[in-house]
Amino acid sequence: MVAHLDSSRPAVADATRSAVYQQCISPDCGATYEIHDVRIACARCGRLLDVRYDWDRLPVPDRVESLASASRLPTQPLDFSGVWRFRRLLPFAAEEQIVTVGEGQTILQRADRVGRYAGMQPGSLWLQYEGLNPSGSFKDNGMSAAMTHARLVGARRAACASTGNTSASLAMYCAVTQRMKAIIFVGSGKIAYGKLSQALAYGALTVQIAGDFDDAMQRVREVAERLGIYLVNSVNPFRLEGQKTIMYRVLEGLGWQVPDWIVVPGGNLGNASAFGKAFLELRALGLIDRIPRLAVINAAGANTLYELYERRGLRWCGGRYDASLVQRYYEELDARHRKASTIASAIEINRPVNLPKCLRALDACEGVVREVTDQDILDAKAQVGAGGFGCEPASAATVAGLRLLQLEGVIDSAARVVCILTGHLLKDPTATVAYHSADQDLFNRTLRHRGVARASYANRAVAVSNDLDEITRAIQLYGS
Ligand code: F0G
Repeated sequence: MVAHLDSSRPAVADATRSAVYQQCISPDCGATYEIHDVRIACARCGRLLDVRYDWDRLPVPDRVESLASASRLPTQPLDFSGVWRFRRLLPFAAEEQIVTVGEGQTILQRADRVGRYAGMQPGSLWLQYEGLNPSGSFKDNGMSAAMTHARLVGARRAACASTGNTSASLAMYCAVTQRMKAIIFVGSGKIAYGKLSQALAYGALTVQIAGDFDDAMQRVREVAERLGIYLVNSVNPFRLEGQKTIMYRVLEGLGWQVPDWIVVPGGNLGNASAFGKAFLELRALGLIDRIPRLAVINAAGANTLYELYERRGLRWCGGRYDASLVQRYYEELDARHRKASTIASAIEINRPVNLPKCLRALDACEGVVREVTDQDILDAKAQVGAGGFGCEPASAATVAGLRLLQLEGVIDSAARVVCILTGHLLKDPTATVAYHSADQDLFNRTLRHRGVARASYANRAVAVSNDLDEITRAIQLYGS
């Protein structure tokens, strides 16, 4: 089978569509496409596409508890996968087509120590450690779904622009499955070392562009179209189907209770969009009766969503959101030559491609958006590290955001809150070491120009000479 990349191909008539199809998110368009159609935008109006299901024609569970399969044996890969054991809620591929590498074995953990930092009462804060995925970030959830769709359409090459985690994930899937060649676009000097090392080690063709993520994103769209390469960025609606399962695992981890709040970092806004879709679908299916509230946290140096949603009042408006407001804002950014800039390189993005879908999610989840500084992010990251498995800077924006929202009185200290820790601690050793280092030059070089003035929660290494007595004294002094 070959990928259809011909943009003149007509939309499939509603009457003939199957139980699974793609649909334009605009209510004024609503064009539908069959699932083998490879698209990242509606051919009629250019808006984003959703994967849609006619649930009446599909087998769906009647109770939320019966969502997960009983067996989780590695010998049964689809039940073992934290994505595909929920396959009845993303039923776009036949079982034999599914691409899985054992993604989604992640942990929801109660985190009282971190909760205390954020002003929460014991038992209130839960951390969802998506860094425990095979490539070390939540991206594997969506990538296994995108890879499955890519296989369905017979793609031989797959590409993405990335701040490092999408690319690491794509590179890993291509290496493990040997089905496709990975071609990744990254902004030169813009991705953390752990992530760059993954792309190189997994053998991806790594194209370093003299520019940032927003530049790379624009280029990869053009290149993918010109060369007919399958694009796996989150403009690909199948990616988001996989990311829905993070929410299913959260519900499962809470014994199928709906939390009060989900807090997620905002970059390209794929996660926030996918979470909103997950909850809307669960409610439409009658599997939950209440949707949690959603808090999306931007880094202050990459705060498009915060600016548009909280300051300029941009809203979903049933799909008729004010696109000219967005356009004007982007023109302002260009006029001021303002580029995204934050230590949380994963979310260093000014033009989030999923903005409209995120507006829909915020609408469905009565959402709020906040921005946090790099200082807030690194302090929160130190707390997450000292209180659990740790995370990379972008992920810690959630805990910094929760702290702010709790202080503001928006989130009650007794509310049940889940922060999504999107990436592993080891992804960005540079930021971690600089924060904890006693080397002032290193601190200044790496962090001070980003407005990080102090490391209040630093755990400094103790330098000693190679002498037993001195080592003993140091341990007696500091080690209790
Ligand atoms: N956290 C981490 C660790 C990420 O890598 C990303 C996005 C986000 C949060 C933001 O998620 O885009 O769904 O809002 N990383 C992308 C990448 C952009 O290329 O790896 P989002």
